[in-house]
Amino acid sequence: MAANEGVDAQINTAASIEYWNNVPATANGMLAMLGAYPWYTRIDLRGSRSFLARVRRLIPGCTTEGRLARAVDCGAGVGRVTEGFLGLVSEAVDAVEPVAKFTQVLQASALKREQKIIQDVYTMGLEDWQPDKAYDLVWIQFCLGHLKDQQLCELLQRCRAALTATGVIVVKENLSTHPQGQDMYDELDSSVTRTDDKFRALFDQAGLRLIASELQLGFPKTFKLLPVRFYALRKIN
Ligand SMILES: C[S@@+](CC[C@H](N)C(=O)[O-])C[C@H]1O[C@@H](n2cnc3c(N)ncnc32)[C@H](O)[C@@H]1O
Repeated sequence: MAANEGVDAQINTAASIEYWNNVPATANGMLAMLGAYPWYTRIDLRGSRSFLARVRRLIPGCTTEGRLARAVDCGAGVGRVTEGFLGLVSEAVDAVEPVAKFTQVLQASALKREQKIIQDVYTMGLEDWQPDKAYDLVWIQFCLGHLKDQQLCELLQRCRAALTATGVIVVKENLSTHPQGQDMYDELDSSVTRTDDKFRALFDQAGLRLIASELQLGFPKTFKLLPVRFYALRKIN
């Protein structure tokens, strides 16, 4: 077995869900210790908005102004990303999230009840989610570490099949800084932080074409945070 294979076998879905069930159902809770730093979410959301604007300009036929018709927030938590970003760039946003106390927050939010931007909320893990609509934007952030490699690949294949003609999948995740270039297992929330190489191999395997990738810049270096990278992915054709 290659050095970087098999780390994902340690992922235990029940342990992950138990961990997240014990986290406060707030936007700060979604970012674990980083939630204590309000600047983190501000930089993160602003970076996502600029990255998406650049990606839309790379897609032939994609509008560069105005809102997309439908996006989905994958591993949405309590909707931090939908509230601060996706709900501003898309007319409608669905959400997939396995922890019921988080989806209750989404269901009760003004974005769902009053503004009607949040539409379907699926209380389930991404490994079980079968998209049944077409999406202009599938946004997957800070949650793929809970899926094994095979589950991740199959999820991406299902998302690929659910894209509109100008649709795009964006993955935004922490990257491993393991000195020997291996994925890192974290027993705290039973998740794996993958290397850039591993992500790219899985995107290939899922039949996706990488059209843009950037590091999220702007986090102060003094905090020694894991690098965060965006990947914009489209159908191969
Ligand atoms: C670090 S939080 C990120 C939440 C949100 N994406 C954000 O950036 O604010 C990780 C989220 O992944 C969710 N999660 C755990 N296991 C999952 C799974 N199998 N499928 C989808 N999401 C999962 C957790 O419940 C939690 O809401």
